[in-house]
Amino acid sequence: NSNIYILAIESSCDDTSAAVLHNNRKLSNVVATQKIHEEYGGVVPELASRAHQQNIVPVVDRALAKANIDKKQLSAIAFTRGPGLMGSLLVGTSFAKSLAQGLGIPLIEVNHMEAHILAHFIKDEEQSMPGFPFLAMTISGGHTQIVKVNDYFDMEILGETLDDAVGEAFDKSAKLLGLPYPGGPLIDAHAKKGNPKAFKFPKPKVEGLNFSFSGLKTSILYFIQKETAANPDFIAENIDDICASMQYTIINILMDKLKLASKQTGIKQVAIGGGVSANSGIRKALTEANKKYGWKTYIPKFEYCTDNAAMIGIVGYLKFMEGSFTDQGVSPKARFAL
Ligand code: KG4
Ligand code: ZN
Repeated sequence: NSNIYILAIESSCDDTSAAVLHNNRKLSNVVATQKIHEEYGGVVPELASRAHQQNIVPVVDRALAKANIDKKQLSAIAFTRGPGLMGSLLVGTSFAKSLAQGLGIPLIEVNHMEAHILAHFIKDEEQSMPGFPFLAMTISGGHTQIVKVNDYFDMEILGETLDDAVGEAFDKSAKLLGLPYPGGPLIDAHAKKGNPKAFKFPKPKVEGLNFSFSGLKTSILYFIQKETAANPDFIAENIDDICASMQYTIINILMDKLKLASKQTGIKQVAIGGGVSANSGIRKALTEANKKYGWKTYIPKFEYCTDNAAMIGIVGYLKFMEGSFTDQGVSPKARFAL
């Protein structure tokens, strides 16, 4: 019968976000997305940290106002310690430390990748919670992992990418097509109008549960070069079919590995998390897998897929209940294992 209010702060990459949770329920989840990186075709770390510096106070104020609570009611401050860009992490970490210090309340560090997985435990009518153990595939701009989740804070990595993350595969392929950053959502939009079997791209041969996406990017590059040499308007004329075919290939790669993980572990509860789980193709493939393979699949609500502070807040709440707090001497970790 607790009455815990957590303010959570996320600043690991290019989104500044703050959320307020009342126990495991979200009261607010404010995200300021940085537009500045679009023109550079990727996140520029120096510009990202500067934008976080500008956004953090207004974003936190809005999250508190939307939740309709006063700072003085807060039980603890949770923040993303890593992994991510050092300059970006420093902004959220410093802010969280100062605020916790000023209010005289506990500080709770959160691992961003753990948060993508535990986002399923945010109580929300539009999503349901898996039971333990379950398989979680985290697919984002920085990571691609299949994790066996035995308990909230007992996770085992079964496989991960050997090179690019799947989000990078989307974004880099999009760049080859002349689409702005981040290209993932744009590929998704084009793919909805295209034929996924129009073009065929090779699937990488990687043993076990690991992934590789750098070869796919190269084969897409050669394909585009060859086709545009023959027809300079090739991309413009076929953009929907190219995107649908690329997305189809990527989703097949992900689903093959998930099927193997399920077979190897005997676990049929399968969850996804991370920015790429916003992709309509993977959401559809996972939904179909319920019938096809007898799985019970869990897809986070859209707002908890891409980077957001509500997922940091749920981890903050779970750690608060365990009495797991962080010392004021903490500093961010750009690389931070699960
Ligand atoms: O989790 P996230 O917001 O940030 C990281 O921690 O990396 O993930 C961002 C990634 C980007 O690569 C973006 O292109 C991809 O998620 N993404 C998508 C979609 N929405 C976001 N990729 C494919 N389809 C989408 N609908
Ligand atoms: Zn993320």
